[in-house]
Amino acid sequence: MKLLITGAAGFIGANFASYIAQEHPEDEIVCLDLLTYAGNLLNLKALETHKRYRFVKGDIADRTFIMELFAKETFDAVINFAAETHVDRSVTDPEIFLRSNVFGTQVLLDACRTYGIKRYHQVSTDEVYGDLPLDRPDLLFTEETPLHTSSPYSASKASADMYVLAYFRTYQVPATISRCSNNYGPYQFPEKMIPLMISRALADEQLPLYGDGLNVRDWLHVYDHCSAIDLILRNGKAGEVYNIGGHNEKTNLEVIKMILKTLQKPESLISYVTDRPGHDLRYAINPDKIERELGWKPVYHFETGILQTIQWYVDNREWWEATISGEYRRYFDEMYKERLS
Ligand code: NAD
Ligand code: TYD
Repeated sequence: MKLLITGAAGFIGANFASYIAQEHPEDEIVCLDLLTYAGNLLNLKALETHKRYRFVKGDIADRTFIMELFAKETFDAVINFAAETHVDRSVTDPEIFLRSNVFGTQVLLDACRTYGIKRYHQVSTDEVYGDLPLDRPDLLFTEETPLHTSSPYSASKASADMYVLAYFRTYQVPATISRCSNNYGPYQFPEKMIPLMISRALADEQLPLYGDGLNVRDWLHVYDHCSAIDLILRNGKAGEVYNIGGHNEKTNLEVIKMILKTLQKPESLISYVTDRPGHDLRYAINPDKIERELGWKPVYHFETGILQTIQWYVDNREWWEATISGEYRRYFDEMYKERLS
């Protein structure tokens, strides 16, 4: 198969490209990325020796560029990871989320429709379902849970999902969608909670914990997300949505305490700061459908996965130190200036 992987220089896209190179060395991989602040070619370094890999820089929302690319190349499948992904940034600058996440998806769908691509996969998120109450552990998101978004980020991802389903129904574009819970693992940009807290703890800096720290996230190792997407791509049914998650709910405070304990840093580094506006309380995925229909099972337990991830950030200090210079430093100062004294 010849795959177009968009957003491939980001966290999950890069892990997915490496997963494909490993598991399906016969596949041809074209990685596309705009190289925004979150995209980093170093994340794809391991693929440089792969004979059937190429990188293309470009914007999924640039219709002319995308149509020319599809006219030149014959892709069998498109897997769309490209997006603006940080909820806090979507609160301060929602427009770019509309452009990249919604319009970009629609441009890709038009290209797939025009060039008869055999499979389009949209990488979505559990955040499209909104949040669950903290006192109802029995409630989990299923594929039938109504979309009920909270942030401009989740609103843009839900809109994109609706376009994907509309293109399936109206134009028979053979598309699938996956909605995954929070990921952790190597190469995650240190604006997201886990790598932010690891990198700041390593530098003995304050850890900005929003609100009371009791919001719950359902964590999945990025490797398990990649294996699920690969299964959907090859065996999933067009027009279907698949939830992905590993039943790993933790409060933010629990996760931060694990990080501090592992790094042998004091809990006094935790700084309770002003909450995120509209902060979702709890996410929790019911992954029964993908387990039952496609036989997917995660391999990582959170307790071992997080230790391995912390070790990766200890061993790859140069990687994250380089990513948090320049534009990111300005973003951090602006986002946290009134939160951290
Ligand atoms: P990321 O921010 O690390 O990477 C996103 C990548 O997309 C970056 O490399 C960026 O340069 C690229 N990009 C942004 N706009 C683009 C555009 N217009 N054209 C081309 N490339 C563009 O994000 P991630 O965590 O790897 O997330 C990847 C996908 O997975 C996203 O669609 C996200 O919504 C989804 N997702 C993420 C999580 C998570 O926990 N991180 C969970 C579920 C779903
Ligand atoms: P994040 O990694 O931004 O993912 P998402 O909001 O998409 O789930 O945040 C994970 C949780 O951590 C979320 O409840 C917000 C919280 N959080 C903090 O407490 N402090 C921080 O500095 C950040 C970035 C997040």
